[in-house]
Amino acid sequence: MITMKVLVVGSGGREHAIAQALAKSRGVVVYAAMSRLNPGIASLSADHLIIRETAVQEIATFCSTHNIDYAFIGPEAPLEAGIVDLLESQGVKCVGPVKAAARIETDKAFCRDLMKRHSIPGLPEYYIFRDTEKAIAFLKTTDKEYAIKPIGLTGGKGVRIMGEHVDLDGACTYVREINGEVVIEERFIGEEFTLQAFVDGTHLIPMPLVQDHKRAFEGDTGPNTGGMGSYTLADHRMPFVTEEEYDQALSIMNLVVKALASEGTPYCGILYGQFMNTAKGPMVIEFNARFGDPEAMNVLSLLSSDMGDIVKGITSGCLDTTIITFDNKATVCKYIVPEGYPDAPQSGKYIRKGESGTALLYYASVIADDDRLITQSSRTMAYVGIGDTLKQAEQIAETASAAVEGPVRHRRDVGTEEVLNKRIKHMQELR
Ligand code: AMP
Ligand code: GLY
Repeated sequence: MITMKVLVVGSGGREHAIAQALAKSRGVVVYAAMSRLNPGIASLSADHLIIRETAVQEIATFCSTHNIDYAFIGPEAPLEAGIVDLLESQGVKCVGPVKAAARIETDKAFCRDLMKRHSIPGLPEYYIFRDTEKAIAFLKTTDKEYAIKPIGLTGGKGVRIMGEHVDLDGACTYVREINGEVVIEERFIGEEFTLQAFVDGTHLIPMPLVQDHKRAFEGDTGPNTGGMGSYTLADHRMPFVTEEEYDQALSIMNLVVKALASEGTPYCGILYGQFMNTAKGPMVIEFNARFGDPEAMNVLSLLSSDMGDIVKGITSGCLDTTIITFDNKATVCKYIVPEGYPDAPQSGKYIRKGESGTALLYYASVIADDDRLITQSSRTMAYVGIGDTLKQAEQIAETASAAVEGPVRHRRDVGTEEVLNKRIKHMQELR
């Protein structure tokens, strides 16, 4: 059998799930470049390099040394640093867009302007300010509530919503704090969902819909985080998204791929669409140029076709003839995080796994010391439950999460029927 050497870049739960899917594929040998040692990824890799993920030159040298054929880029920072441009120039085929196409995530003004140039639906009313005082003057002349976003990457934590996180004074203070380019956009009211897709420059193959839980605490309270957990349903849809709304979201994603290709920067990799389903249909919150974390763990745990074939399909423009299938099961992913996360995480603390049943475990920011684990300042690890129903999947993930001993916590409400029913009811009220 011909083997393919695939380098996974990144060190989180998302990259552990990517490495796991690759490791199960025919003929794939996994290598890794990660900023800190992820025990899960390391155990799946033939060799690994511990390196800052934006140190693209060093990663390129590692690829040459090991004759790497393909690279799968997990996080956004290396995309922004031009890792794909560099690796492709030395013959490594990449799952991930070149720097210019990754701007769909790394430059929020570019994203909004691209949608506008190509009349892509789902675009909010938005304003881009390069001058802090002008942005503040604008906010003071209107009584509408807006979302305030710095233009660049913030790890999903840089958005302040008026009426939710801040009042007018708080919004103005935040604009001053950003002290740079800012996007001020219409605040959407609705329910969020994520649509991720494999893209080969031309063709786009969607994955099951996911719903993330951004807030730190139960009942969607507390500060925004990178994501505390997420779920998918057995039919790969969400009950608060109609088939027509799903088609609209998919069409928006296809139009973005077309727009990028028409501007000379074809998009290859994973395209992540974050939508707010509103009374007017799905609106675009943002696009990411990569898998979501935790959302990757949901969908990749269900992938029943060969990830190596998908990597080949994405990098050779033939996803239309690649077999891509997902099991018709529900998944619930719960992140275990240090007490105090995200504001004052208790890092360096010993924790111990308990009885985890059939739950899958993906490591994130954690050090393994024999059978003990030590927390770091970011999300520690995640359990994924898979079941015929959401309830079954949730119970599997919850039981495993609750059994972890030590100064960590998780959101008990992720993937519960109560939360899902709340979303359905909210959408019914809005329609
Ligand atoms: P982002 O970093 O753009 O993903 O935003 C983080 C979170 O802020 C999103 O998941 C939403 O919950 C919220 N958000 C962002 N933009 C908007 C908007 N225009 N209206 C309402 N909520 C938003
Ligand atoms: N879970 C949201 C993200 O990865 O951006």
